[in-house]
Amino acid sequence: MEITQLSPNIGANIDGIDLGKPLSPEIIQNIKEAWDEHLVIRFRNQSINDDDLLRFSKYFGELDPPGPNPYGITFLPEYPEINVISNVKAADGTPMGNLGDGEAVWHADMTYIEKPPEAGILHALEIPVGQGHTYFANMIKAYDALPNELKEAIEGKILIHDAAHNSAGMLRKGYSEVTDPRDTPGARHPLVWTNQNGRKALFLGRRPHAYILGLPLSESELLLDKLWSHATNSAWTWFNEWQVGDVLMWQNLLVLHRRDAFDGSIRRVMHRTQLKSLAA
Ligand code: OGA
Ligand code: MN
Repeated sequence: MEITQLSPNIGANIDGIDLGKPLSPEIIQNIKEAWDEHLVIRFRNQSINDDDLLRFSKYFGELDPPGPNPYGITFLPEYPEINVISNVKAADGTPMGNLGDGEAVWHADMTYIEKPPEAGILHALEIPVGQGHTYFANMIKAYDALPNELKEAIEGKILIHDAAHNSAGMLRKGYSEVTDPRDTPGARHPLVWTNQNGRKALFLGRRPHAYILGLPLSESELLLDKLWSHATNSAWTWFNEWQVGDVLMWQNLLVLHRRDAFDGSIRRVMHRTQLKSLAA
């Protein structure tokens, strides 16, 4: 297997592995080590099916079924552990996947629950060439590079992570709008996340409707704006220009991601798994 860094501070490509076949423990261990170092790993030109995606995903931890989507639909009834990210609609207009064709703002997945998933894995099946890129930002680097006064300002602080909206800004089923971020429903997590290896990462979830507990609203807004502008600095981001057959995995609590909008008349279909916790 051949590991190539994709940018100075995040992401690596791995060549020479066929994810359509069972992998040896040594290969899995090598992937894990590369994933710990680069946080985002991409495999290209894979021809795999949903069973292969599930087998591959399970090498790295416990599967976590999709969270509630705005439509209340199980997209793949035969594969309830797999989520579909797509703009495609059935003949009657029913969405066949999540997130539509608009921008998905910077976020980490499902941080609005107590124990958010530790990883996401996307398999690209149909792609609008040259559009709908997905960006990733390394929150370990972002934390390390924080100016001291910001490190001090967030030390011990807790953030509310909005449960009501998805990353496309749509209201999830069962939630209603709140206007004051102090009333945002969702889990509360420390702004500094420490992972199993003791590494610290800036843990922001998503910007809209966020609130730092204990601060006057205006101070929370100001501090969050500063943190977000730092967190999404291009120095530690990279984007994937998708190709059919890409399989891309990211460490959800150590990385933020966002997606560009794309031409909605072109089909984009991704199958996706998520891992509750990573195997040691
Ligand atoms: C996701 C997500 C981005 C994309 O699957 O969690 O944000 O590129 N997807 O569709
Ligand atoms: Mn996401």
